[in-house]
Amino acid sequence: TWTPDAFVETTVAALKSKIGDDRVILGLSGGVDSTVAATLLHKAIGENLHCIFVNNGLLRKNEYTDVLKQYEGLGLNVKGVDASARFLDALEGESDPEAKRKAIGRVFVEVFDDESKLVENATWLAQGTIYPDVIESVSATGGPSATIKSHHNVGGLPDYMKLKVVEPLRMIFKDEVRRVGASIGLSAELLGRHPFPGPGLAIRILGDITPEKVRILQEVDHIFINGLREWGLYDSVWQAGAMLLPVNSVGVMGDERTYEKCVALRAVESTDGMTADWVHLPYEFMQKVSNDIINKVKGVNRVVYDISSKPPATIEWE
Ligand code: XMP
Repeated sequence: TWTPDAFVETTVAALKSKIGDDRVILGLSGGVDSTVAATLLHKAIGENLHCIFVNNGLLRKNEYTDVLKQYEGLGLNVKGVDASARFLDALEGESDPEAKRKAIGRVFVEVFDDESKLVENATWLAQGTIYPDVIESVSATGGPSATIKSHHNVGGLPDYMKLKVVEPLRMIFKDEVRRVGASIGLSAELLGRHPFPGPGLAIRILGDITPEKVRILQEVDHIFINGLREWGLYDSVWQAGAMLLPVNSVGVMGDERTYEKCVALRAVESTDGMTADWVHLPYEFMQKVSNDIINKVKGVNRVVYDISSKPPATIEWE
């Protein structure tokens, strides 16, 4: 039978003999998969693992600095690269969802490529690919789902990097990744983090992206996610976030008429993201969060809750 301890032991031994004294580069995303993959590799090859954590400017509020600190605390050899301006430049005026994903994917490859060239004599690229990613990318080469959304977690790096690929989590599922993470001492908080899309807030800001919209959505998302934590609801939700709609609506503040943005909150339960249902959050919670958002976030005067299931809706709005 499969156990996390046995998996760690055999994987670390296999990584040691496969990689030897070579240098490995790994892109950390802040998510569970890349973190567990990095920790396993660090156990196997120590400082020869060079991690790169890119800030695309579309992460959650404070996420870049908080997560970078966490990585350093884990003893990983990690370099943070703040490329926010480069990503936002590339996204300027772009409102098509797939074009936004492509722009982000392209800039990520450029930044990652520049950074990996600074690691001399690197011969391996490590990735936190898990089994469902492998399946999705296989079906994405032919299946009709390929054109729905281009997930760029798999195979998105250019050939000219000429690195051999190592994927320690390739054969296991998310729940197994979490158990492996626990067995190598990663905190429950880190392992319980909700999934977050690679293009980040770019696909939750409907329409074009500006620094001001990013700021608004970061504030809204922060209030919502912190609220879930404070009310003890975070762990009963599979994924949650907020969408900034390209819609202004009329409101009233004091005796002033306002004409400001609307945000949609989304919280879903799911096992693998392929299907999902909206979560019946308590009304008292929604009332509190809605009031906090409208009172504290300048530029927002209306909050709605998304009650669509997947299918036919998707989890993200873009
Ligand atoms: P959808 O919106 O397709 O999302 O129901 C299913 C899961 O995938 C995430 N997602 C993405 N992840 N790059 C990613 O890394 C993407 O382009 C992307 N699009 C959606 C989404 O957050 C959810 O967990």
